[in-house]
Amino acid sequence: MRVLLLGSGGREHALAWAIAKSPLCEKLFIAPGNPGMSGLGALVPLKLDDHAGIIAFGRENRIDLVVVGPEAPLVAGIADAIIAAGMRVFGPSKAAAQLEGSKDFTKSVAVAAKAPTAAYQTFTSLAPAVQYVREQGAPIVVKYDGLMAGKGVTVAESIGEAVEALETLYASEPAARVVIEECMIGEEASYFCFVDGETVLPFGAAQDHKRVFDGDKGPNTGGMGVYSPPPVFTAEMEQRALDEIVRPVAREMVKRGMPYRGILFVGLMITATGPRLIEFNCRFGDPECQVLMLRLEDDLLPILNAVSRGQLAGVTARFREESAVGVVMATKGYPGSYPSGTPIGGLEAAAAMPGATVFHAGTKLVDGQLVSAGGRVLTICATGRDLPEARQSAYDAVAKVDWPEGFCRSDIGAKGLAHLKG
Ligand code: AMP
Ligand code: GLY
Repeated sequence: MRVLLLGSGGREHALAWAIAKSPLCEKLFIAPGNPGMSGLGALVPLKLDDHAGIIAFGRENRIDLVVVGPEAPLVAGIADAIIAAGMRVFGPSKAAAQLEGSKDFTKSVAVAAKAPTAAYQTFTSLAPAVQYVREQGAPIVVKYDGLMAGKGVTVAESIGEAVEALETLYASEPAARVVIEECMIGEEASYFCFVDGETVLPFGAAQDHKRVFDGDKGPNTGGMGVYSPPPVFTAEMEQRALDEIVRPVAREMVKRGMPYRGILFVGLMITATGPRLIEFNCRFGDPECQVLMLRLEDDLLPILNAVSRGQLAGVTARFREESAVGVVMATKGYPGSYPSGTPIGGLEAAAAMPGATVFHAGTKLVDGQLVSAGGRVLTICATGRDLPEARQSAYDAVAKVDWPEGFCRSDIGAKGLAHLKG
């Protein structure tokens, strides 16, 4: 197969790593990719919002499958455009990608499917939203209804904090649509399922660390580190998530005439009463994808191919019994403002550590020197027989990275260890 992978982050580096080693893969193109991926395929300078350019490239290069990494092109309808051009794509349609693109849409689907999720109301102006917050009390969650890269959510500890978030939002966007919902208490897990209409293939879970600092302090980020599998997501929780959330939602999407076809990222809160839906994403998680790809025993490409053909039924996916940990290294200042172009060294030594794999996210080459080019810059991963071993190896590899402007959390996986200790 000739494959075109779209994206340039750590998630896409891991996807490229998995696709490139498939015996089915004859040629891999990556657009635009990053320097870490250059050994895995040919990097092509295409812009992800240039659907016509991507389709033209696909035709000229006889691409059999386009794999879309990030959400923005999916929400903008790139899968529909590729299919209309007579090519095959891995990634949901624009209509189905609303499961990530609109929180209000997701909530309405969850309610119709009777999937357990936080009670909510949607607002389009400030005064009624503030009144609702005062009626409900704190803690309460305020969500901007649109794509905000994980930064449009305020988990407010007080009514004042929620009102302030609403005032700030409506000051900058007077017609904003806002979802206000009940704050759920528990531990989060990221669960992944390939979905093809009503056919669901469970694809494992991971636990991300959303806050920027140790001990889950500071603002939310795109994710500062991850481990898999998470002990909090027991086999019983997985069965309930499938029966109560994923399968009914897949059926509801088919019923609405917008069958979901792709990877469904199910953001869950594991509460005292069971798994409850926080959100869906229409793509793999970043950094969740990195650790799932490391643990995946089977070939990824036939699965992506089957989903794109609507032939997922009967396909299986096996994972190794080991653990994997991914530590995100970010530029100091992230998720606020940060410098660009700071030199990075030591990655070969890091990758040479036992069990370690280095995935690039925001890097670029300037005159042969690798430098930072983003907030989240690297995911330093390792596998091990169990979580303590994987975690030790990941941090041993982190210690080899020579990047004075970078930082990471030092407690990735600690919550999982606490479970293991009972
Ligand atoms: P989202 O963009 O919907 O994933 O929200 C970002 C983060 O906010 C989630 O990963 C949770 O940590 C938190 N969050 C969102 N909704 C809720 C909720 N209803 N209750 C508690 N925490 C939430
Ligand atoms: N790591 C969370 C996400 O990809 O949205």
